[in-house]
Amino acid sequence: MLELDPLDELICLRSAEPLAECGGMVLPAIAQASIFRKEAMEELHRDLAIENRANVYSRGTNPTVRILENTLAELERGEACKCFASGMGAIGATLFGLLKAGDHVLFVNDTYGPTLELARRLQDFGVSHDQVFSPDLSAIAEAMRDETRVVFMESPGSALFQMLDIGAIAKLAREHGAISVIDNTVATPLLQKPIGQGVDLVIHSCSKYIGGHSDAVGGALIGSAELVERVFYNAYMLMGAIMQPLEAFLFLRGLMTLPTRIRRHHDDALAVAQHLHGHAAVAQVFHPLIGDDVQTVSGNWRGHSGLFAFELASGGFASAVEVANRLRLFGNAVSWGGAESLVITGHKNDPVERGDSAPRIPAGLLRLSIGFEGVDALVEDLDRALT
Ligand SMILES: Cc1ncc(COP(=O)(O)O)c(C=O)c1O
Repeated sequence: MLELDPLDELICLRSAEPLAECGGMVLPAIAQASIFRKEAMEELHRDLAIENRANVYSRGTNPTVRILENTLAELERGEACKCFASGMGAIGATLFGLLKAGDHVLFVNDTYGPTLELARRLQDFGVSHDQVFSPDLSAIAEAMRDETRVVFMESPGSALFQMLDIGAIAKLAREHGAISVIDNTVATPLLQKPIGQGVDLVIHSCSKYIGGHSDAVGGALIGSAELVERVFYNAYMLMGAIMQPLEAFLFLRGLMTLPTRIRRHHDDALAVAQHLHGHAAVAQVFHPLIGDDVQTVSGNWRGHSGLFAFELASGGFASAVEVANRLRLFGNAVSWGGAESLVITGHKNDPVERGDSAPRIPAGLLRLSIGFEGVDALVEDLDRALT
């Protein structure tokens, strides 16, 4: 049974409390306003100087978005949070906000495709990057340069689910004068607390488990007040990838059931992965809790969510597409983290297809997002598609 922190359950449920004065609403009000009027001009001037905290204009701060930001900061045990229009909005603003020409970024482990694509664009602005797949500390230390200013991790990775010792990597980054950043989307704030392990900044795509119903796109950045403020003024306010109040409401609603959903995703995905492990048609299952080297390296990691992958024992990309097309209960769709099960094979944005230097993703890979159809039905569907 997956054990979650009881404090997190309360935080998820109580996020609407600041609005108790609105007639005891149990969900936050949607503050659909672009501007906020002040009694006196002096008050407006004062608030303009603290736009990262004060309601002045909704491109800066909005009351409903603010409730979500406070809740996510609390869940990640961070000082501050800023929400964005998408996970990529958060990733883009973080890189733009922290880097300048001459700096270097080190990506460790799987990196979400568009994040790497953005790093390639940043080359045109004088920011270089490298990627290391090995979780080995000495390999990571070797890839660090004098100019490395950001070490960007995913753990578990979102393609092959390899885990990193994120505390040790954060320490290494600090010793090199670099800021450590983790994309914690796969683990959610419930299954891993990177800040507690010394990581400087945590990013989420709220579009996955935080929303949980495949109906909203959003992102979040959590960390020290100083770093979040740096990103706020250097990039967020200038690039305008803001979260809208309706989306913030949807994510707050999603958070209320996040612990319950994560328990179910964890249990069902593990059961389906265990079934596929050792299946005659399957070469390998990529899930942190499956295989000979069950991975628990990450200090306060509690378990895995509902996303994992497997490689076919024979046949490559075309066979993977055939299997995906034979599945009835798994929708062919991008993204993950909702109530419905999904499948995706490799595609043209993959490193393999693009011919990158370090392709690791097997051609016959299928990634599954396990929803709530039930283990028996999902296993039956997979068995039929795999024969
Ligand atoms: C691991 C990971 N990080 C970030 C993102 C980007 O998030 P968004 O789609 O909300 O921009 C995604 C989206 O699929 C993702 O899978």
